[in-house]
Amino acid sequence: MSRIPLVVGNWKLNKTIRETVDFCRSLKEELFSGPEGPALGARKVEVAVAPPFTALSSAAQALEGSFIGVSSQDVFWAESGAYTGEISPKMLADAGCRFAIVGHSERRQFFHETDASVNKKAAALTAQGLIPIVCVGETLKERQEGQAFSVVERQIVEGLKSLAVRSPGELVIAYEPVWAIGTGQTATSEQAQEVQAFIRRLLEKVFSPPIAGGMRILYGGSVKPENIAELMARRDVDGALVGGASLEVKSFARIVQGCLPKT
Ligand code: PGA
Repeated sequence: MSRIPLVVGNWKLNKTIRETVDFCRSLKEELFSGPEGPALGARKVEVAVAPPFTALSSAAQALEGSFIGVSSQDVFWAESGAYTGEISPKMLADAGCRFAIVGHSERRQFFHETDASVNKKAAALTAQGLIPIVCVGETLKERQEGQAFSVVERQIVEGLKSLAVRSPGELVIAYEPVWAIGTGQTATSEQAQEVQAFIRRLLEKVFSPPIAGGMRILYGGSVKPENIAELMARRDVDGALVGGASLEVKSFARIVQGCLPKT
């Protein structure tokens, strides 16, 4: 089953509103005037940026009509109420988001994110018509102890429990081995493929074979223009969640180019 590659730039705690707007304008120019322009117009590759909350609506305005989407980096599951500091799926939709990253390892590590909270967030997003990008991945210690598959299995099964997904496009999974994030140590394409094929088999059980077959599974962790082609050559790598290399327009555009379908 053919899947449209997706490239998402996760900016983390970076960029002001001004910097976001400048970036979005240059990205549009770079992508549409570059070799990926026609493919982007024909929607052969999907692209999104994930600025901080403060810059989401400015990014959406700057990218309007460009086919480049906007994602948040997190969300809270309630629609409204006494939850100081939180942002709801409805507010994200209002700001112009199409996607929301949930369960990023930095949120799991520093902000007490659990599989149960990931599950509630993903459900609230799909109910609002937004697309969750659910991140999973093992730490170095877990990999060394031979637990990579069992950790990812728990994160997928618990994180996606009872999620109402009717078509493959309603959810995206990102496999991000924690030891590869921001370290410059990318997983080998074999390691990415092995875990991502395993994730697809889990998705068959959680949802159904047709939904699993059409769902995008991204790889994330030190993705760079130099390694994207090798990763994308693998059967179950359907795009990338890019941190550091997404902060600069030219390197992000080169990664998009590396995700274009070969034919
Ligand atoms: P990195 O981050 O590309 O800087 O390793 C990826 C991520 O955290 O999503």
